[in-house]
Amino acid sequence: MNLSEIRTPAYVIDEKKLRENLEILERVQRESGAKILLAQKAYSIYQTYPLISKYLTGATASGLFEARLAHEEMHGENHVFEPAFGDEEMNELCDICDHIVFNSLNQLEHHRPVWEKRVIDGKLSVGLRINPEFSTQDGNDIYDPCAKGSRLGIRLKDMPESLPAGVEGFHFHTLCEQGFEPLETTFLKVEEEFKRFFPNPAQENLEGFDEDTRGKIKWINLGGGHHITREDYDVDGLIRLVKRIRQTYGIEVYLEPGEAIALDAGYLVTTVMDIVETDRIPVLILDTSAACHMPDVLEMPYRPPLKDGEEPGEMNYTYRLSSRTCLAGDVIGDYSFETEKNIGDRLVFEDMAIYSMVKNNTFNGMPLPDIDILHEDGSVDIIRRFGYEDFKCRL
Ligand SMILES: Cc1ncc(COP(=O)(O)O)c(C=O)c1O
Repeated sequence: MNLSEIRTPAYVIDEKKLRENLEILERVQRESGAKILLAQKAYSIYQTYPLISKYLTGATASGLFEARLAHEEMHGENHVFEPAFGDEEMNELCDICDHIVFNSLNQLEHHRPVWEKRVIDGKLSVGLRINPEFSTQDGNDIYDPCAKGSRLGIRLKDMPESLPAGVEGFHFHTLCEQGFEPLETTFLKVEEEFKRFFPNPAQENLEGFDEDTRGKIKWINLGGGHHITREDYDVDGLIRLVKRIRQTYGIEVYLEPGEAIALDAGYLVTTVMDIVETDRIPVLILDTSAACHMPDVLEMPYRPPLKDGEEPGEMNYTYRLSSRTCLAGDVIGDYSFETEKNIGDRLVFEDMAIYSMVKNNTFNGMPLPDIDILHEDGSVDIIRRFGYEDFKCRL
């Protein structure tokens, strides 16, 4: 099958683009010594995990189910962070994960009876999420873990004088779709304020890492939100920073981007089902939906890139792109085209591999799009096709 033959709506993963992203990330690992994990919350098409695990160190999870998925399909390191873990989940998490990050001292101590023995046995490493209280994004508090009132991570003023027994690492996640500079300034803040928890290389013999750095962190996870595979990202700056951290403190450095792994590596292909004239603008009714198939378009909100689609008014024909759900606001955006659109035409939304398939839903009983993969030789395979049972079984 080739692209023109696929059934719509369909998400199409672009294997070549995914590989190219992975090659950039692999270079960061190789040249800096960083360990890079796939943040599965952005992208969890596990059928591509064999490819991803050729390049990356492993995966990180937002809870038990993602952790299970990585355990079954990724075969690399398996990390998990969640603001609160359930009592009934902790045993299994300790069995399948090698790193668990707690969001509070309460959670750390509450679950200590389950995790502590595994740490002593060397089977698990435990970390704490810290909140550097350093916002580098303007505007949208919904994506800012350092916004006032944030529940994410422990503030410096709430940290104990020394690292709680058994804790080996720190984790912070503060960025969203950002370049290198915000990471650098955030790390400088963390380094200055949380200094007492970092090993001091001047006094300690890093050769005897385990013995001499007791009570200090052995690893730091710099979270996600790094747009490393975006063309203008300062990859060399990132490599320099990671090398400096590793050399100065003798600690492991983790990065856990989600978006960067599958950035621009997927499409959502849709068909025009009807064209409705209104008192404002002609509306294309598509067989896809912002609310169901690309919820970030409404939540972020953002305007998804569309192949051959320009800003309204720029080209001859301007349309509002909408959906066949009942929600009046289920509008993807206004776009203009060189040619007039007709019922049956196909449109291709770009950058649709991330935060799309992991967030979609069947509101209105809308069918879920197929998930296809475009191989490097141009052929397309169906990874997954959904039907009525996928709607019914969730109710
Ligand atoms: C703790 C944590 N790690 C990693 C990520 C991945 O971020 P991104 O997909 O923006 O790289 C997120 C995103 O919300 C997160 O909350």
